[in-house]
Amino acid sequence: LASIEVDVSKIAEGQAIKTIFRKQPLFIRHLTAKEIAEANAVPVDSLRDPQTLAERTKAGKEQWLITMGVCTHLGCVPLGAGEGENRGEFGGYFCPCHGSHYDTAARIRKGPAPKNLQVPEYAFKSDTVVQIG
Ligand code: FES
Repeated sequence: LASIEVDVSKIAEGQAIKTIFRKQPLFIRHLTAKEIAEANAVPVDSLRDPQTLAERTKAGKEQWLITMGVCTHLGCVPLGAGEGENRGEFGGYFCPCHGSHYDTAARIRKGPAPKNLQVPEYAFKSDTVVQIG
């Protein structure tokens, strides 16, 4: 299966972009220090799909949140990356199909989705280039 390389140097802090990976939407988000702090402040045990931000990002690159842009409920594309400013009640992504709210680590916090947005396999090739897949 094909990998893609993305230059993330143009993604400003606080911004998220949407691209395509293996025919599905992929979100790449440059978290702000505040968004990282918000994600880390949540007690993991309280989460429906318990994962820390550190488990969902790479060591030393916690500001880069890379996830599939596919709601884990029925597969709609959540808002909050590229189009639509609606990032939901927890500041991450919002799926308008049935109202799932994801937080700044793209973890499900409210609504019908059962799981966090999926993190694909990826690796940083340099400070600014990430290979997905
Ligand atoms: Fe996203 Fe149903 S598909 S909430």
